[in-house]
Amino acid sequence: MSKPKLLSTHVLFESPRQKLAQHFEVDYWTGEERPTRDEFLKRLAGKDALICLLTEKIDREALETAGPNLRIVANVAVGYDNIDVPACTARRVAVTNTPGVLDETTADFAWTLLMATGRRLIEADRLARSGAWTRWNLDQLCGTDVWGKTLGIVGLGRIGRAVARRAAGFRMRVLYHNTKRAPVEIEKELNAEYVSRDALFEQSDFISLHVPLNDATRGLIGPAELAKMKRSAFLINTTRGPVVQEAALIEALERGQIAGAGLDVFEREPLIPDGLRRDNVVLAPHLGSASIETRTKMAMIAVENAAAFFSGQRPPTILNPEVLL
Ligand code: DGY
Repeated sequence: MSKPKLLSTHVLFESPRQKLAQHFEVDYWTGEERPTRDEFLKRLAGKDALICLLTEKIDREALETAGPNLRIVANVAVGYDNIDVPACTARRVAVTNTPGVLDETTADFAWTLLMATGRRLIEADRLARSGAWTRWNLDQLCGTDVWGKTLGIVGLGRIGRAVARRAAGFRMRVLYHNTKRAPVEIEKELNAEYVSRDALFEQSDFISLHVPLNDATRGLIGPAELAKMKRSAFLINTTRGPVVQEAALIEALERGQIAGAGLDVFEREPLIPDGLRRDNVVLAPHLGSASIETRTKMAMIAVENAAAFFSGQRPPTILNPEVLL
């Protein structure tokens, strides 16, 4: 019997690739760059399954181009704002993501940005490697302490909790805001206090964002929130760029309304506006989950979801299980 046809918009890693070969006839996008929209649509037409990255937009047009054979879209990311899930559901196309495996790695990266902004690591590296460092000096590149400060976490899901857990070693006060208050045992474990959003913005020295991007969170951090922050505070974003109104952030940085920012995500990736290229902003090209171990696990989850679907089993991390009924 012939195997179902699957488009993978990335070559993935060795172990997921081996598993994929057991179940599918695979068309891999092997280009160094991401496929253009046209290239992507052309390759998608007539496929039974798709493994894609967050760079591919799965909307009505993509679904129509794919045609009626397409049964599953397996996103190699936990965030799925690139996928129109209701449109997939309407066409009985299953959608899966990769929750769980990237929490700790992403939390590590939020902390990487937090430490790098607070202690001015990028400026320090630049000076050290430039040859222009002539002597030690008392006030050279002094940053701000991280230990003992107040960390504000917006969104206390799995990643937010992993970020909070790490704060204990720095003897920080941890505040959080979430649409729903966390159970008391979690608050105790994390030593985290639930506060209003206003209080979080007013009191925190470092604010780390961990809400998914959706209609309720798009533009969540705008002029009003930034104006509430201390002038000495830093904003860390490892979730999705559009959660922050980038123009407002640039203005706040220009006016010295906040001390700086650590940004892994941007409103219109891969575009990074000039206004963010400042010494007090640490920039990264969306690397939160980018460890070999984690990215391999993410790819494997996508493969397992696709394989389960075509073996008549429930894909382990399906987002729209109603399509299976
Ligand atoms: C995700 O999974 O949503 C990240 O942004 C990429 O790891």
